[in-house]
Amino acid sequence: MVTNTVLPPAPPPTAKAGGAHIDIRGVSHWFEVSGGVLQVLDGVDLQVRPGEFVALLGPSGCGKSTLLRLVAGLEPATTGAITQNGEAITRPDPSRIVVFQDPTLYPWRSVWDNVALGLQARGVLKEQRARVDEALRLVGLTEFAKAFPHHLSGGMAQRVALARALVNDPQLLVLDEPLGKLDSLTRIAMQSELVNLWQRAGFSALLVTHDVEEALFLANRVIVLSDRPARIAAELVVDLPYPRHRGDPKLAELRHEALKHLGLDATW
Ligand SMILES: Nc1ncnc2c1ncn2[C@@H]1O[C@H](COP(=O)(O)OP(=O)(O)OP(=O)(O)O)[C@@H](O)[C@H]1O
Ligand SMILES: [Mg+2]
Repeated sequence: MVTNTVLPPAPPPTAKAGGAHIDIRGVSHWFEVSGGVLQVLDGVDLQVRPGEFVALLGPSGCGKSTLLRLVAGLEPATTGAITQNGEAITRPDPSRIVVFQDPTLYPWRSVWDNVALGLQARGVLKEQRARVDEALRLVGLTEFAKAFPHHLSGGMAQRVALARALVNDPQLLVLDEPLGKLDSLTRIAMQSELVNLWQRAGFSALLVTHDVEEALFLANRVIVLSDRPARIAAELVVDLPYPRHRGDPKLAELRHEALKHLGLDATW
């Protein structure tokens, strides 16, 4: 049955912390590996302005995830500095949430309980239960609040992971190939959803993707990294309004440019 339900207008974003200003200055990073050290990042300078969406593209193994881990505060950079709103990032913080390729939901917890995790961990769930409902509404999963992860499709599970991030009202969403495991149609739909969520919630976003079109569809700026150790090889400003149209000739032009910087002759 087709219903013509008129949804109430979305409430205005309330008490949003606003997007973080991230400043990465002269960051180089080495790992200790058997037989020596491996340099992974080489003098990376990058800013994410409040509310900006920045995408990182680069060859496999060049150091993208490492850079995200440093920004998330999961480990300290060997040299250089990373700040959030002027303060050094020294540890993980709920104002910066990471979403990985694998949604890693707890199978024994319902969708609602998975989304509630962050609030529960901080001991504020009792007062803030409505935030869980709101996050589920934002990702369109209200009707699945009581479902368990094994009943969800890959796209739905990743939406739960996004809701679990959004419930914390992050200032920065750190996205490490969050749509990488989805089929191409779901992926395209989720890209549009991600733009909607970002525009409504106002967080800053730092996304790693291997998909040039995805980077150009989502981001204000696309940063192309070199082979390991990663340096910034190019910066493409995507000066197009949202929502973007995938057939936009400007996007095709930027795609060629990005592929060229990735060392691929874009003749296709
Ligand atoms: N904890 C670690 N100890 C030692 N080496 C590591 C560690 N983490 C990552 N590396 C190495 O650092 C390099 C960069 O890894 P990273 O995961 O940042 O790459 P990436 O650009 O995200 O790659 P991909 O596109 O395949 O996800 C790789 O050679 C990897 O083996
Ligand atoms: Mg990676």
